[in-house]
Amino acid sequence: MSSKAKQPISSACMSNAIECKGALPTDGRGDAGLETRAFQKRLERHHDELRWLYMELYDNGDMFAELVDQMRRFFDDRPDRLKALDAAREEAGAWYRSQKMLGMQMYIDNFAGTIAGVEARLPYLERCRVNYIHLMPFLDTPTDKSRSDGGYAVKDFRSVRPDLGTMDDLAHLAQVCHERGISLCMDFVMNHTSEEHEWARRARAGEGEYMSRYFFEANQDVIDRYGRDVPQVFPTTAPGHWTYLPELGQCVMTQFYPYQWDLNYKNPRVFNEMMYNFLYLANQGIDIMRLDAVPYIWKQLGTNCRNLPQVHTLVRMMRMIGEVVCPGVVLLGEVVMAPVEVVPYFGTVEKPECHMLYNVTTMATTWHTVATGDVRLLRLQLDAVCGLPKEYTFLNYLRCHDDIGWGLDYPVLRRWGQEEVPHKRYLNDYFQGYAPGSTSRGALYNADPVTGDARFCATTASMCGIEAAGFEGDAEAMKVAVRKDLMLHAYMLTQSGLPIIYSGDEIGQINDYSYRDDPEKADDSRYIHRGAFPWGLVEEIDREGTVQNRIFLGLLELERIRCDDPVFSAEATVGTKDYSDVSILWIVRECAGKTLHAVFNFSDREKTIWMPEQAEYTDLLSGERTELASFELPAWGFAWFEL
Ligand code: GLC
Repeated sequence: MSSKAKQPISSACMSNAIECKGALPTDGRGDAGLETRAFQKRLERHHDELRWLYMELYDNGDMFAELVDQMRRFFDDRPDRLKALDAAREEAGAWYRSQKMLGMQMYIDNFAGTIAGVEARLPYLERCRVNYIHLMPFLDTPTDKSRSDGGYAVKDFRSVRPDLGTMDDLAHLAQVCHERGISLCMDFVMNHTSEEHEWARRARAGEGEYMSRYFFEANQDVIDRYGRDVPQVFPTTAPGHWTYLPELGQCVMTQFYPYQWDLNYKNPRVFNEMMYNFLYLANQGIDIMRLDAVPYIWKQLGTNCRNLPQVHTLVRMMRMIGEVVCPGVVLLGEVVMAPVEVVPYFGTVEKPECHMLYNVTTMATTWHTVATGDVRLLRLQLDAVCGLPKEYTFLNYLRCHDDIGWGLDYPVLRRWGQEEVPHKRYLNDYFQGYAPGSTSRGALYNADPVTGDARFCATTASMCGIEAAGFEGDAEAMKVAVRKDLMLHAYMLTQSGLPIIYSGDEIGQINDYSYRDDPEKADDSRYIHRGAFPWGLVEEIDREGTVQNRIFLGLLELERIRCDDPVFSAEATVGTKDYSDVSILWIVRECAGKTLHAVFNFSDREKTIWMPEQAEYTDLLSGERTELASFELPAWGFAWFEL
């Protein structure tokens, strides 16, 4: 384990730090006997179930024994300070559910050049009140950007992309972050490797041991069957599920891009080795593992190869392995699927799988609501989420590094006369700025000429009209756009779960069209929202009245309120309220004898809002208490009134 002696770590825990206070150990070794007992106890708790699931899947006692041996080895290697953090987190319970958590997702190179650069920029992130950083893929990946999928084609799970730094830099960053009460999230890309990964290179050279770690197929019938049964991930940019390798006269399975080879988890060697990689990375100080594309990891001819029962077995095993070796580490499932498929990834309360999942349907439904001005579908979605056990923690977001796929509840929309294909066309037209009343700007993604399907890419600010208003120099339109942007963030912060800001959104960063001039990126419009962070604009935060000033300070205030007011606790009872106007979303949070009425106007018109009862409410934004029966809510405005 590395712990690079750079500059001394001086800063004290942030005020909003939740898990590090009092938990940071000295550098000396802990009590080895006590530690061993802690490991043994945790292993005893999970051993039988782990073994049972492993044997059911693999029927291989030797490989299971190897796994357990390695778990012990990784536990022994785990630095004392991480073990102490594990202990503190075990005691605290679900630390990631705290209302004080605020996340930010960023590309290291776009934000600060290197990992060391991110470390140097921590004061800015603290100023943003961020205490959870998701670093986008940073493991070694092919240098040709058109063959790296933004780092999701991993060449080596144990080394960092050289231009970003080293594994020592990462461990050091993690240590500094922990000192400041910040946790780190990384992508664990477990469905596939890059074609340049050592296993893939050896498989391509015909080594049977390595070929068995992927799916090779020469039989055209089988290939055709997969083509019929399995939906396409990237129908336009990477059609098909197989890539022909002339040197072997066979195809290799590549569900994503042709240079991302799907791993074969039917081979216990693959599972074991990937778990060792997971534990190795956890031991560098990673707190949250984002399980990339996890629904895809088990393939079975004759199925759609998504969300198969074996996927849940694998995730459950991973959860137990983590709980034994590094119980402070959280699994975040990237399950971009229909709601019925998403929730099972939490497992059950007794046999949990992921700690957290992306609230993907809510995200897509939010933008649907922006485009339609009709909150009915969003209410159904929010109420469904609120009806789940409170232990089920969602990660809430407006935008991330990926496109928005329009995964909406079409059976419901159909009842209201909206058919899937024309509705998606409407949404895509709207967000490209073609529909009447739209101020959004952005680009389509994977537009499929056969199905008429397409997804959408842009930054939050561009979708809210900040790009268009800035381009047109329209101050009035800018006012509305900034209001819309803040309203959507307020709505995100009103939900229970972990809110994540997409880096740049805190200062209203707009689309970056330069990817179109770069041949290695031009085909992938997701780069429109992966632009370099505009540090020049950060200076504008302190200039009264600028867009950056209004958004940044506006967000800070919302985040401060969310962090401090008990009504935002994860234990609150949350639901939506029926209101006579379909463009008004009304969320009610109740906790500790307080009731929050959060009201959001998804329309271009000012509205008069009638409160359920005339009473004295506190306006959380101004802090003022007023007797209220009704109030005026501007177009795209919101209010937080507490009773
Ligand atoms: C995930 C990532 C996406 C990537 C894909 C393949 O969905 O979010 O960016 O393209 O996995 O690894």
